[in-house]
Amino acid sequence: MIIKPNFWQIPQPTATDFAALAEKEQLLAQRIHEIANRHQHAKFASSLAVEDMVITDVIAKSKAKITVFTLETGRLNPETLALADTVKKTYPDLDFRLFRPNPIAAEKYDREKGRFAFYESVELRRECCFIRKIEPLNRALADADAWLTGQRREQSVTRTELEFHEWDQSRGIDKYNPIFDWHEMDVWAYILKYDIPYNELYKQGYPSIGCEPCTKQVKAGEDIRAGRWWWENKDSKECGLHK
Ligand code: ADX
Ligand code: SF4
Repeated sequence: MIIKPNFWQIPQPTATDFAALAEKEQLLAQRIHEIANRHQHAKFASSLAVEDMVITDVIAKSKAKITVFTLETGRLNPETLALADTVKKTYPDLDFRLFRPNPIAAEKYDREKGRFAFYESVELRRECCFIRKIEPLNRALADADAWLTGQRREQSVTRTELEFHEWDQSRGIDKYNPIFDWHEMDVWAYILKYDIPYNELYKQGYPSIGCEPCTKQVKAGEDIRAGRWWWENKDSKECGLHK
């Protein structure tokens, strides 16, 4: 007999969760407004995760002067790429762009180190993340005076101290985490309340989604980032996007 693994499932918000959302939503709209007013060229990095879809929705509906971009690493799942197209169609007035890695650097890594060399060591994994995420991020932010992320405190042991506002020392620009204090249930309450499009992979047991070869499903009750770089230690599981 084949026993089907019991994978993580999309949380089902209750009436209390939906009621608690109202205040958070209002505060989020204020935070987005404040960032757009304070900066000439703020940019939001969206991985197309549900957290990022919430922020994208607020930016689009409020017509805030904030551009949105996704780092299309070349190793994303087809489901994630399909969602990028859906974002363009759902929010036609949103300034939404994809940033891709330098093809020469990506090809060189694949040829010299191996297309799946990131499984061999943390160094080789970070090198791949540098080529496919960090360098394109640097390019995306070259003309930005602030950037936003969808990080939440609850997501990881490395994010428990996260604040709404940070100073990005390496770039000399402001960095904001407008839903740093949201719980997973708040995020899903927003997504379901407004029928926001989301990545199909959530329905297959993925609570956190990165590149295809570096992300897998998690079992019910496991850490929500357990499926990210699962072969590494908990405290090395950051790709370098966030210091
Ligand atoms: S990661 O560092 O482990 O990859 P995670 O997937 O938790 O990050 O996402 C945290 C935040 O980083 C996202 O909300 C988003 O702001 C940014 N981010 C991560 N991956 C991307 C991506 N591919 N494109 C744009 N932003 C991203
Ligand atoms: Fe490369 Fe994996 Fe990092 Fe994506 S998450 S850039 S495939 S090492």
